[in-house]
Amino acid sequence: SEPPTLLYEGKAKIIYPTADPDILLAHFKDDATAFNAQKRGSIVGKGEINCTISRSLFQYLEQRGIPTHFIDCPQPNQMRVRAVKIFPLEVVVRNIAAGSLCQQTGLPLGTVLKQPLVEFYYKNDALGDPLLTRDRLLLMELATAAQVDQLQQQALQIDRYLEEFFQNCGLTLVDFKLEFGLDAQGQLLLADEISPDTCRLWDNADTDPKNRIMDKDRFRQDLGNVENAYQQVLKRVLAQAATI
Ligand code: C5P
Repeated sequence: SEPPTLLYEGKAKIIYPTADPDILLAHFKDDATAFNAQKRGSIVGKGEINCTISRSLFQYLEQRGIPTHFIDCPQPNQMRVRAVKIFPLEVVVRNIAAGSLCQQTGLPLGTVLKQPLVEFYYKNDALGDPLLTRDRLLLMELATAAQVDQLQQQALQIDRYLEEFFQNCGLTLVDFKLEFGLDAQGQLLLADEISPDTCRLWDNADTDPKNRIMDKDRFRQDLGNVENAYQQVLKRVLAQAATI
């Protein structure tokens, strides 16, 4: 039979329609990109690893009452998800200063933030995913004021749950990116993925600032052992998920 026509191809996933218009199939790729796709490569086994980590974290968050788009995984690198109208926003939550926060504010890497910081970035490759202010977000009608508040509250709640989960894995959740959408009933669902591609995770057992990095920064900064780090995160996430 002919392969199904894809609905959308992103940098890390391909989205296919299914017979049910309310359900989509997400295929997780091994492709890795960084710096708005200026750096390209591949991380062997990443598709399966990120799909499986995301499944565990979505199931955990669902158990805690956070609605997500996750349905099930027919294959290790495939996830059936509820179709949503996605907000064109990257909702970033930070607990420790790293990455663009350090670059743009001068805060030293590793500064523990007194309270989590929620930021909204405009998902727009041509513009380089710029940081938005609340007023710019409202100006551009990317969400309503009530939706911005809801996204912020949901992101902070997810941060509390994920921080606890990763702490039990021996990992510090430095920061992460979330995407949200609205389903056909207008319910807000957590979408996309939660994986070492979208989180910064530092190994609590290691104090060396480079060795302890267990996420996509190993790829971004050419630190090596990228596959090993992703596999280690998978192993710990599955072990922790099995205790819940
Ligand atoms: O680069 P920056 O420091 O703003 O990234 C913050 C967090 O959001 C990091 O965990 C990074 O992996 C994630 N992120 C992402 N996709 C992007 C930009 C950032 O997953 N396009």
